[in-house]
Amino acid sequence: MSHTYHLAVLPGDGIGPEVMYQALRVLDALSQHLPISFAYQTYPIGGAAIDAYQNPLPEETLAGCQEADAVLLGAVGGPAWDHLPTPERPEAGLLKLRQALGLYANLRPVRVPDTLAHLSPLRPEHIEGTDLLIIRELTGGIYFGTPRGQSSEEGYNTMRYQRTEVERIAHIAFQYAQRRRGKVTSVDKANVLEVSQFWRHVVSEIHQTHYPEITLEHLYVDNAAMQLSLNPKTFDVILTGNLFGDILSDAAAALSGSLGMLPSASLGDRTGLFEPVHGSAPDLVDTGKANPMAMILSTAMMLDALEEEEAAQLLRHAIFQTIHEGILTPDLQTADIPSHTMDEVTDTIIHHLKHLNPTAV
Ligand code: NAD
Ligand code: IPM
Ligand code: MN
Repeated sequence: MSHTYHLAVLPGDGIGPEVMYQALRVLDALSQHLPISFAYQTYPIGGAAIDAYQNPLPEETLAGCQEADAVLLGAVGGPAWDHLPTPERPEAGLLKLRQALGLYANLRPVRVPDTLAHLSPLRPEHIEGTDLLIIRELTGGIYFGTPRGQSSEEGYNTMRYQRTEVERIAHIAFQYAQRRRGKVTSVDKANVLEVSQFWRHVVSEIHQTHYPEITLEHLYVDNAAMQLSLNPKTFDVILTGNLFGDILSDAAAALSGSLGMLPSASLGDRTGLFEPVHGSAPDLVDTGKANPMAMILSTAMMLDALEEEEAAQLLRHAIFQTIHEGILTPDLQTADIPSHTMDEVTDTIIHHLKHLNPTAV
């Protein structure tokens, strides 16, 4: 029997709408091969919502997301809105949405397919086979802590974590490690910050009490940033706070050769949100050069969360076949292969979807 999922689609700004369009093409193609279908309702967020409604997260958008089975988001932000005060910026709309949906767990997987290893500026033998999962706390820490503000004389923010916030994200990290290679690296700055000492203490407690079979290590964030590029294969699950997770995930993107390859899932107790790690890339708008893979891989993470395993597998297979054939946008271009447009990459993924036998993957 065919199941219809109701998706809230938030294209956003810059290349957001472009990569979203490609992802919806792929979902439509999937629904022609499998007994699932998708009904889309599109809502404004970010700069587009500011222009139309003077509000980066209109009520209608939030309500639509709360009612949906899942939310797909492109990207928000851009130079046109950079002059606005913090609470009125496009980014504030996204942060408010994450908080309102209770999306405290942000999953950012980083895999380096063997066929992409040579595209990274890092040495292929160091990064080939990298398969790590960054679990970033998403609704707390310095992004949301008060007091915060600025005057003509100072600017300030507050990094704080409540016990319950650390406990629930630690549980998520240990549970993912149980299904993976059994190791969690918790990243903090406990040599300087009390909030990190507290984080480390609570993570260790949860480990000892509930998950003694998992290997837990702690790293300072500066060292973690270096280890990510020198020894990425030593990581399995990386557990970290909101700010450090934001920075480390862009750093980890270099392993796969481009930020345009990194998907994410933001999960809480109800509706999940699926968005690429990258931003609105104003430099790429209307060039056809944006890499749609991160957005399309984010829809694969959505399929995982909806427990549509066959569809998720099929889609990943089609994506990896496309990568394997070297059908890549210019961000992954090397001297020996010509680059392709965003449309051509999606066409190839769809072509493979049509020719893959669901029962064979
Ligand atoms: P960015 O991620 O937009 O771009 C960083 C670099 O990566 C640029 O060189 C860009 O060309 C490249 N890049 C990004 N996505 C790509 C893709 N799909 N294919 C190929 N190359 C890609 O970050 P930025 O330039 O620092 O920020 C631009 C705007 O995006 C800002 O307003 C920022 O706040 C916003 N932003 C939004 C999100 C989000 O919506 N989740 C994430 C990050 C940044
Ligand atoms: C991300 C982005 C966002 C963040 C911004 C746009 C609010 O950089 O999702 O990585 O900092 O969380
Ligand atoms: Mn970021």
